[in-house]
Amino acid sequence: MPTSAQARKPAFAEAGTSRKHRFPAIAMPDLSYTLEVAEETAAAYEKVSHIIPAIEWPAYAPYVKAINDLKKERNAVILAHNYMTPEIYHGVADIVGDSLQLAKEAARSEADVIVQCGVHFMAETSKILNPDKTILMPDMGAGCSLAESITAADVRGLREKHPGVPIVTYVNTSAEVKAECDICCTSSNALQIVESLGAPRVLLIPDRYLAANVALQTDVEILTWEGACVVHQRFTGEEMREYRESVPGVKIVAHPECPTDVTAEADYTGSTAGMITWVQKNKPEKVLLVTECSMADNIAVETPGVDYVRPCNLCPYMKMITLPKILESLVHMRDEVVVDPQVAERARSAVERMINLKG
Ligand code: 13P
Ligand code: SF4
Repeated sequence: MPTSAQARKPAFAEAGTSRKHRFPAIAMPDLSYTLEVAEETAAAYEKVSHIIPAIEWPAYAPYVKAINDLKKERNAVILAHNYMTPEIYHGVADIVGDSLQLAKEAARSEADVIVQCGVHFMAETSKILNPDKTILMPDMGAGCSLAESITAADVRGLREKHPGVPIVTYVNTSAEVKAECDICCTSSNALQIVESLGAPRVLLIPDRYLAANVALQTDVEILTWEGACVVHQRFTGEEMREYRESVPGVKIVAHPECPTDVTAEADYTGSTAGMITWVQKNKPEKVLLVTECSMADNIAVETPGVDYVRPCNLCPYMKMITLPKILESLVHMRDEVVVDPQVAERARSAVERMINLKG
């Protein structure tokens, strides 16, 4: 587990306590499984019953009800990434999506509080785009191997080494790193952003695999950094070929954080939202989602008749977000994500430049 994510804790915990002046104290709700709880959570259970046995639902349901009640009391919304577990995705999330969709929703949210069910860079992006809101992270330790791979000083070093070369940062980076870059991108628009710059050479950091996948689709020369996603870097092309042989007719849908020998075997490569749309549109009989495990669990209910072939890999950071931690977060209004206003202002121009790009 990255140490820098842990090191963040004290600073944010301290900031979180200041919120107590604005948000009234609320007692921890009763978490008994009553008839009322069963009735109020029945619709959510239907969506997760393929993955959560009925005997286990009484352990989740009181949290689902308590969180949904507290959201109203706090005027809060839950933004949840597609990698959240099904009980979060279907039980308490108000908005689900990929990194770009969540960033756009955060920018236009009118709620007082945003609970970010995802990882730390996503919460920072929400704060950058909507600084007056209270952004809560249920677990400050939820980092990202890509975000941990590069610092602002590293970016300054790249600028010195490659004068005049525009720097595109993947959204999976800290606010400090974004503040040093020209424009941001996500997995759904990386190629478009790189080509929009009209430069012969572009630095696309910090994911070496996203950069390699973009480089295959453009004449722009792509320079990069040595970061990688711990979930996607583990898949191999050989594994894909073995699945094609052992599961006849299987369609392979990959994320661009995968190595290029994996994406070379894929029928489709795109962001998590792109992958979902592809499956919904093409309705393959059998599909291998080359990404985080919760994706298949979450969309199975909306794609009847599609058989999701494993393997998948778990993201240890995304999996730090749980229902009990979301509830604690809303009860105690912690941990609040704060971004230094000067850093936020510079980072905002890189993120907004991406969001405002038409096409
Ligand atoms: P997207 O959902 O934007 O494709 O990103 C995947 C990811 O790894 C987020 O951490
Ligand atoms: Fe980071 Fe990969 Fe986890 Fe996404 S899946 S948060 S890129 S480590």
